[in-house]
Amino acid sequence: MPVDMPLEERVEIPAALLRWYDAHARALPWRSPPGAPAPAAYRVWLSEVMLQQTTVAAVKSYFEAFTTRWPTVEALAAADEAEVMSAWAGLGYYARARNMLACARAVMRDHGGCFPDTETELRALPGIGAYTAAAVAAIAFGRRAVVVDANVERVVARLFAVEEALPAAKAVLHALADSITPPTRAGDFAQAMMDLGATLCSPRKPACALCPLQAPCAARALGTAERFPIKAATKARPRRFGTVFWVERDGHVLLVTRESKGLLGGMRALPTGPWQDEAPGLADAPLGGDWRIGATEVSHVFTHFALDLAIARLRVEKGCTEKPAGEWWPIQRLDTAGLPTVFAKAARKVLEDRNG
Ligand code: ADE
Ligand code: SF4
Repeated sequence: MPVDMPLEERVEIPAALLRWYDAHARALPWRSPPGAPAPAAYRVWLSEVMLQQTTVAAVKSYFEAFTTRWPTVEALAAADEAEVMSAWAGLGYYARARNMLACARAVMRDHGGCFPDTETELRALPGIGAYTAAAVAAIAFGRRAVVVDANVERVVARLFAVEEALPAAKAVLHALADSITPPTRAGDFAQAMMDLGATLCSPRKPACALCPLQAPCAARALGTAERFPIKAATKARPRRFGTVFWVERDGHVLLVTRESKGLLGGMRALPTGPWQDEAPGLADAPLGGDWRIGATEVSHVFTHFALDLAIARLRVEKGCTEKPAGEWWPIQRLDTAGLPTVFAKAARKVLEDRNG
């Protein structure tokens, strides 16, 4: 059970944290400064969808690119799905991009182009879960909502020295976050908790001496802040193996579009067979020929497994009559193909080998 915190300490938390936020809020492209009118719901929603499972540093340039190209929910709803997927390439978790587009279209169709302003209605939209609904309700609409991401979980686990391990502790951490969320400025409060977690209350070596919450913080008093949040032992990630096929013809490389279901679904990709427990070698090559295959050349970590890919290369003549499925993409413009990171890495390897 969490350490009990006297009420008079608990009630100090929001004011102390908001005072700190007023002075130290990070300036981020999707934010208004503390206390200023809220940004458009579209921008809040888009940023929160992008920020799930992805770091602030990685999201910034994608957020700028998306909002420049599609400045409103109306513009995004009218976009071509393939273009959205390719603009998303590199951010990962591609189902998010498809749900995001479905959400923009639902907002146009069912809500006249305005995001609804309650958590319940927001949750009914595609791709919006409890976290995103709370974040948009609080940050865009000033509603009191309890917004808990991994940074907030860490701060709360430390403030209350929660001994229960994640993920079972999620409900307790949410209830404790609720107990310190103020009735007004809930959006600033949520973002202040995130900023505290991203800066002072970092996973390793938290800077407790600078922290606005050092007085009430139970973990700091115990001298063991770094021990929290406690996490249940996780299973080791399994390792899988595959081959990617680089087929080159007259300055072009063969690309395919992956099936819409499954990992990296609907994304443009280099041809590759199924990923399995043992290296498949040249099984599943998209066409016959004198393939050259190296040792493992690309590694990538997905949520549920780590992947090692061998790269097989083949050069075919212009006159070759075999017609493999896919499209021939100019190698000079490969950066415009919207390849997911694992395939972009493989392509970079091939091109580096050749030029180096
Ligand atoms: N992570 C998720 N949402 C965020 C936000 N609004 N500001 C900073 N980091 C975040
Ligand atoms: Fe985190 Fe230390 Fe602040 Fe507690 S005092 S919230 S552990 S930075």
